[in-house]
Amino acid sequence: MGTDGPLTYWDYIRVEDLLDLQGGVEDDEVDLANEEVVFITVHQVFELWFKLVLRELRTARDLFCRDVVANQELSGAARSLDRVITILGRATDHFLVMETLSTRDYLAFRDKLTTASGFQSAQMRELEIVLGLDSAERIDAGPAGNWLEMLRNHDGSESWSSRRVLAALNERHSLKEAIERWLARTPIDGVAHDDPDAETKLGEFIANFLQAHAREADSACDVAIAQGGDGVDPQARRLRAEKEKEAVRAFFEPSEEEGGIERARIRCAMMFIETYRELPLLAWPREVLDKLVEAEQAFVLFRQRHARMVERIIGRRTGTGGSSGVDYLDAVAQTYRVFRDLWAIRTLQIRREAAPPLANPDYYGFAHDA
Ligand code: HEM
Repeated sequence: MGTDGPLTYWDYIRVEDLLDLQGGVEDDEVDLANEEVVFITVHQVFELWFKLVLRELRTARDLFCRDVVANQELSGAARSLDRVITILGRATDHFLVMETLSTRDYLAFRDKLTTASGFQSAQMRELEIVLGLDSAERIDAGPAGNWLEMLRNHDGSESWSSRRVLAALNERHSLKEAIERWLARTPIDGVAHDDPDAETKLGEFIANFLQAHAREADSACDVAIAQGGDGVDPQARRLRAEKEKEAVRAFFEPSEEEGGIERARIRCAMMFIETYRELPLLAWPREVLDKLVEAEQAFVLFRQRHARMVERIIGRRTGTGGSSGVDYLDAVAQTYRVFRDLWAIRTLQIRREAAPPLANPDYYGFAHDA
């Protein structure tokens, strides 16, 4: 810090410290090629964006961890998620800067990295954990060991990175868990989750929705057969409609293994909020659910974009972290999902006019705010 007196820009932003961090293993950038300084700087910029995204996700998560979440606070959560979406979108664009490196530019310093890889980015792992990625879903990167081992020091001792990630794993709830606790308490058609009749009423709501969905699926099928001429096999089309109906039933009647009645309540709350979003008290919850999907989409796009950038620069060779490279990255982009149920209800939703009428829509007027 500088001398006493009014604050300066360079002291407040710590510009000197910041610009001193791009020296690589030599700790001196004077003899580094511009391309290596680009490589280091772009990674650092990403880590700073990750830091901000983590703060927003934890802020949103902590809000939903509360036993009561006031409706008027939901706009704050939506703002946090909006910031996550904006940052990730801009960060993804930064891969363009990386792509100013040719394959040969990168090969010129790649050996210096030895086993260092973005695979060891503690903040990336924290992001996944705070969002709620299930550890069982992770794909191993290959012979180099599993994702947690890769974060340890070479002698197997805990590192700065592994300690951060272990701490994140020990946090009480992920964003997904917190959101689902909140959804499980959402009153369905005016019936609170702890009402003695809650289970019966939930069953009635689901039965009504399934009927409405079946009517929609049947009428879409009738139209397709009537308009399709010879191109449509009526039997195959009806079979498809039956399969769609069966999938919706299975979604709302989950097995005990999937979480039974508790999971049914969460899924029903998602569908209820999406279907009746015009009711005043459901507008912000719906906005939050939509932003969660958008944020997850931004993560998926980040992964896909990274994979294409990697393919362009190193082709199909293995990664410095020991994975198969692009194949591993594509598999992760394809597989890792946190908010699966929120994605699933996009397949199951029906037209607004087809939704079953509610017994108690007034419950969701502003007068009933928590
Ligand atoms: C020349 C540029 C880059 C190349 C060639 C590259 C290559 C790779 C490869 C091959 C992997 C798979 C793991 C391995 O075997 O190493 C990987 C993982 C990763 N990289 Fe990059 N990368 C580059 C730039 C970046 C940048 C700028 C970031 C931004 C932070 C980044 C973040 C990551 C992350 C987070 C992973 C872990 C992905 C996962 O396990 O899901 N990479 N990278």
